[in-house]
Amino acid sequence: MSLNTDNIILNNRMTQENLKDKGKSDKSVYIETYGCQMNFSDTEIVLSLMSEFGYTQTMQPEGSDVILINTCSVREHAETKIYNRLQHLKPYKKKNPNLIVGIIGCMAERLRQELLDNYPIVDLIIGPDEYRKVPHLIESVVETGEKGIAVKLSRVETYDDITPVRKDGVTAFLSVMRGCDKFCTFCVVPFTRGRERSRNFNTVVDEVKMLFDQGVKDVTLLGQNVNSYRFDGKDFSDLLRACARAVPEVRIRYTTSHPYDCSMKLLHTMAEHDNICKYIHLPIQSGSDRILKLMNRLYTVEEYMAVMQKARELMPEIGLSTDIISCFPTETEDDHLLTLKVINEVKYDGAYTFLYSKRENTKASKMEESICEETKKRRLDEIIELQREISYNINSKLVGKTKKVLIETVSKKSDDFLMGRTDCNKSVIIPKRQTFVDQNGNLDIPKEYSPGDEVSVKINKANSATLFGEPVLIR
Ligand code: SAH
Ligand code: SF4
Ligand code: F3S
Repeated sequence: MSLNTDNIILNNRMTQENLKDKGKSDKSVYIETYGCQMNFSDTEIVLSLMSEFGYTQTMQPEGSDVILINTCSVREHAETKIYNRLQHLKPYKKKNPNLIVGIIGCMAERLRQELLDNYPIVDLIIGPDEYRKVPHLIESVVETGEKGIAVKLSRVETYDDITPVRKDGVTAFLSVMRGCDKFCTFCVVPFTRGRERSRNFNTVVDEVKMLFDQGVKDVTLLGQNVNSYRFDGKDFSDLLRACARAVPEVRIRYTTSHPYDCSMKLLHTMAEHDNICKYIHLPIQSGSDRILKLMNRLYTVEEYMAVMQKARELMPEIGLSTDIISCFPTETEDDHLLTLKVINEVKYDGAYTFLYSKRENTKASKMEESICEETKKRRLDEIIELQREISYNINSKLVGKTKKVLIETVSKKSDDFLMGRTDCNKSVIIPKRQTFVDQNGNLDIPKEYSPGDEVSVKINKANSATLFGEPVLIR
């Protein structure tokens, strides 16, 4: 089958209004999301677009009219997971031949031909810049029985006018820019998400205010590279400041930033506003300048360290995390040791560590790989182990201290406990109910906490990933 996406779009002669009327019938969509926060945020946009056409979200695939899988291509494993998932969806299609199965997101963009040729279960293939077409293409598949494909990348699409359908909750993601122009040599994102473009400054600020009105207390501004945000002469620091000022009661976070664009102005803006969380996720990827150059990361270790140092100077308690790729092509033992050295020097609160995964058509895929499997495993284990030790040491030092925690959800492990985060992004578990003793040693009325509460918590236990504590009353 050819990949002429326009044909399919042109075949779809229904107008938006027609479709909206048709959509009045109650149809249901089940959607699964993989990958980064941008994908989770996009799912909320897709749900919004579909709800306009009468679709309601269902939480299980059984009995749904449409199943959408929002996919990630960043590493091979992410794609293998989706191929396996497609096998598991076969019985649903067998039971209901009218079921529409759609692959959307980064894998749809990257592997459209493969999906088209080898996965007959897939009816729809829609890339990240074509979500407005999802309801139309579903109708088209229903009417014609032909597969629906839309994978054009856009230089302007930001879905600025779409209000995402978010689950009620204390936290919310808000995309402020899309795409990436950095072209790190290992990465598929510039190919799956296209060129950088930023959302309108005022609509972002308005959306933050709207989220506050809806009860949200922690907003994460999202982008593959938020620091590249530009709109009408304003940059990301300006946007961050405007959001923080518009809703002083709301915590504002952001992710992800690229070290090359992490400006001093941004660090100062963070330091100046109490409600901008003191936390930066700044991926270093490698501690070796030679490897950084091969990766096209555009900074040296020294430059990176200067940013980290300034961040700590301005915000001594700041939480820091990073991403690391181990075993990039040609990485030597010395390069690996340099990565361990950087981890030791920065003392990150946490790190996401990955083995290099070769991605077709990237520049790095043409570089020679000669590291054996055993070495790969050892190097990754060494990085993980060192980071675990550091995280544990940092967290242990917090035992006995009192921290402000914004409660987000019930704990995954027990309904009697709640999970929240400090502004430095530490996860904290507290009991849901606490009985306090007053100054005379008598028992006060028991207090019960719920998501949305900001609680002072005395930390009494820690492991490398989580803090545990008890609420205290600040009298
Ligand atoms: N835009 C973000 C990263 C998005 S991808 C940034 O630059 O910070 C998230 C992480 O996945 C990257 O930071 C990198 O560590 C990892 N990653 C990306 N491509 C990879 C590959 N081919 N193999 C292994 N890890 C990869
Ligand atoms: Fe990928 Fe680099 Fe862009 Fe991050 S900055 S999305 S790693 S190309
Ligand atoms: Fe994955 Fe696409 Fe995000 S490749 S990491 S879902 S931008």
